[in-house]
Amino acid sequence: MEQTLVIIKPVAVHRGLIGEVITRFERKGLFIIGMKMMQLDEQILREHYAHLTSKPFFPDLLKSMMATPVIVMCIEGKDAVEVVRLMTGATNGRKALPGTIRGDLSMSGQENVVHASDSIDNAKIELARFFKPGEILAYKPSDFRFYYAPDEV
Ligand code: TYD
Repeated sequence: MEQTLVIIKPVAVHRGLIGEVITRFERKGLFIIGMKMMQLDEQILREHYAHLTSKPFFPDLLKSMMATPVIVMCIEGKDAVEVVRLMTGATNGRKALPGTIRGDLSMSGQENVVHASDSIDNAKIELARFFKPGEILAYKPSDFRFYYAPDEV
């Protein structure tokens, strides 16, 4: 089973979309094995968005990501990194396909509701950045056998 990081961004906290986003992952059959609210600061955002610090929009991105606390989640499932990215949709909400989180809930390239790790390697790095040891709690739901065929797990 793979694990990936999702951040429910301040725009979603402001707009009352926390439950909507969590519900989508739950209904898909992904397991939330870590979740907390935290206030991001400039230091962690400069690390997290290191590939974007020289972009002209970076100051606005910083402000947007610090506007309220965020929800960080560790989400587990088979191929979870790819599945969660597919559910997230393209970066720009106006270009993201309907049916995706960004496609359904965002009209913006910046205020695009969620972050999701884009590779298995980055998921590991990002989970270690946002969660302390002991904050990710592996468990299996009691009806786990209904989620996958035996040869998928
Ligand atoms: P990026 O890592 O390129 O995309 P994604 O979030 O889909 O992995 O960009 C990180 C965030 O930076 C993105 O979610 C929103 C913001 N951003 C902008 O505000 N403007 C832009 O032109 C881009 C590319 C990103």
